[in-house]
Amino acid sequence: MTPVIRVPGDKSISHRVLMLAGLAAGDSWVENLLDAADVRSTAEVLRGLGVDVPCTWSGRVRLPGDAAWRDAEGILDCGNSGTTARLVAGLAAGLGRSAVLDGDDSLRRRPMERVVYPLQAMGARIEYRGVRGYIPIELRARASGGLRVLRHRPRVASAQVKSCLLLAGLASGTLVEVVEPGRSRDHTERLLEAMGAPITFGPEDGGARVLLDPGGAPPALRPLDLRVPGDPSSAAFLVGAALVAGRRLRLEGVGLNPTRTGYLEVLRRMGARITITETGREGGEPVGDLSVEPAELRGVEIEPALVPRVLDELPLLAVLGAQAGGCLSVRGARELRVKESDRLALLASNLDELGVQCREWEDGLEVSGRAGPLSGSVYTDGDHRIAMAFGVLAVAPGSDVRIDDRACVAVSYPGFWEDLRLLSEEAA
Ligand code: S3P
Repeated sequence: MTPVIRVPGDKSISHRVLMLAGLAAGDSWVENLLDAADVRSTAEVLRGLGVDVPCTWSGRVRLPGDAAWRDAEGILDCGNSGTTARLVAGLAAGLGRSAVLDGDDSLRRRPMERVVYPLQAMGARIEYRGVRGYIPIELRARASGGLRVLRHRPRVASAQVKSCLLLAGLASGTLVEVVEPGRSRDHTERLLEAMGAPITFGPEDGGARVLLDPGGAPPALRPLDLRVPGDPSSAAFLVGAALVAGRRLRLEGVGLNPTRTGYLEVLRRMGARITITETGREGGEPVGDLSVEPAELRGVEIEPALVPRVLDELPLLAVLGAQAGGCLSVRGARELRVKESDRLALLASNLDELGVQCREWEDGLEVSGRAGPLSGSVYTDGDHRIAMAFGVLAVAPGSDVRIDDRACVAVSYPGFWEDLRLLSEEAA
């Protein structure tokens, strides 16, 4: 029988829904909010800023609007979540609220200047509390007056940077234009459009410019009512596992936002047989089902222009290269060095440990495929996507891959190991 799985709600959308619901004029209703550590970090940080976020998230959840935003007392702990730290920095700056943002050791190593610099250019008062360029950062309250108009061209495509600045513009009623070198995920734009915000952004097939023009005052936002689509980044691991195990799989209710579906294009180029059926839309996002059939994989070249659309799936695609014929390569992926871990370094060292030939460049990797059954220990550095990627390799018949930290998947996909078991050899 073909296993049928519904992956948990999209992490990026869940963060944004919690933040935007607090700004809406009235109560929002949301189903399938991701209940995982990263989104819990956002909820806790928002409570510190005065938002009444409920504690239980099963079924249809009411998120109260018109939040009574206040200055945060104490330190707001963003945990492991870069999205929380960067987006809340923009939100608090736009609201003119004081807050100190901090997080775990991994988050303390991730660059913050990319959001602090443009926020300062808008007139926000932000200081580094520890090492320059990193959290903890302190945002100072602004008694009155808006922020300055910002037209920004970030050096790298980053949805966190773009969303941070849009939230600052939204909450302060200030015009913000962001032109990215490539189009990053556009969930903030789609949700804002669904809420009636004065936002324009590129067509589905391109366009890396977004303009928010509130005309001097925070716009009235319609409350949200949606079912959060299944997270394509979580779905990708199960699709990969089905391919490695040579099994059929059906995934239902998966997000099909074109800024996130690059992994399906790469997998099809690798020879995967995946049927995609769009079934509807939620919060301005296309949603649908995926059916995966067993297939032989071959390595491909992932070109730099595609990287923003496969960003979080690159660990998975890289390890699949080990099971494919020929070579899989990716360039233009320097950003992977500043994720929850240095993912390029960890992919290379762990593949090497498993006996897979792998070349590491400053901005990418080349993986030689078909190493035969793999065995060895994987060091994750607490990075959920490294743990899940190598967990996928572990379902290959005859392999013996041990993961040092299986619990770290809790930040994005707490039920991952159970879902993976449905696809493993024993279940076949
Ligand atoms: C995210 C944006 C991406 C992605 C991260 C989630 C978001 O990060 O890697 O997992 O929700 O906006 P960058 O903005 O740093 O590229």
